[in-house]
Formats: sequence, C-alpha cells, structure tokens
Amino acid sequence: MNALRDHPAPFRPAALEVMPLARLCDRLARRQRILLEREMARLEDLICRVNAAEPGGPGQSRRLGIAFKAFRSRLVAHMHEEAHLVFPPIRRAGGAVGRSAPAIRALRRRAARWRRQHFQVDEAIARLRHLAAAPASPGAAVAPRRALRQALARFERLIHEQMYEENRFLFPRALSGCRV
Ligand SMILES: [Fe+2]
Repeated sequence: MNALRDHPAPFRPAALEVMPLARLCDRLARRQRILLEREMARLEDLICRVNAAEPGGPGQSRRLGIAFKAFRSRLVAHMHEEAHLVFPPIRRAGGAVGRSAPAIRALRRRAARWRRQHFQVDEAIARLRHLAAAPASPGAAVAPRRALRQALARFERLIHEQMYEENRFLFPRALSGCRV
C-alpha cells in the first residue's frame, strides 16, 4: 500500500503507441490498484461522512450509498477480469504475434465486452456525480458533499485516463499483433 500513497504525478504523459506492451500493462495495472485500493476507499469514506452529516435527509445521501455499492461491485469485477484475463496473456505474448487464431478471436470478443463495460462504468459514475451534486440537506454541513464532489472528479479523471489507454492503445495494439 505504501507505493499507492498520494503522488503528485503518478501517470505522466507517455508515448503509449510505442511503449512495450508489458510496460503498458504494468502502467494500467498500477493505476487499477490506485483506483481500487486508494480512490475507492476515499470515496467510500466520504459517502459515509455525507450520510453521517445528513441522517434525516430527503434520501439523496442514502441513494448515494446504494449507487456507490453497485458501482463498486461492477468496477471491481471488470478490473478483476482485466487483471487476470487481459494483462497476463498480453505480457506473455507481447501482443497477438505468435498466438493462435482462436486465442486472437477470444481476445477480440473480450475486448468488445470490456469496451461495453467501460460505457457502463461511465454511466454509473455519471449517476454518482448527479447524486453528489444535490445540495446538502437543510441545516447539514456542506463540507462533506464538497469533498465528495472533489474526490469524484479526481476519480473520474483517473478512470477516464485508464479506459482511454485501454481502448485506444492496449486492445488495438494487442489485437494487431504489434510487438515492440
Ligand atoms: Fe477496463
């Protein structure tokens, strides 16, 4: 966990079109860990604070907790699959070069599914953003909601970077058999 502590610029811009695929997998796996272990815990803590600050609210804070649990389980399943079914074979083969046609077809089908899941993740985050944007309950402290909105914006930025790098670089390069 120490490696996951706040870092001012953990993911500098890089030439991802020529980065060796194993290194690209390492970069993506590292950002996955940050999202799952650090950013997700931060969001959960902040949602608990919002709920504590607005116990008798109109239901928005309770819906936030429910939406977050659904989002978390979907994202964990997605990232677990990628960590076990995407990164290891790409690291081993350095891309599609040398793999059998059935293996390439399987990766192509999976990549299409994971792209669809990226859209679903995006929709789930938009739902969270919408719920977090609601004003605090009358008389409740506004700071927890403000902190949650900031944390969500950070989370969204990180996960959009992740999905972009997978969609734009990892899947196409692995499927084209590009070995660098
Ligand atoms: Fe993904």
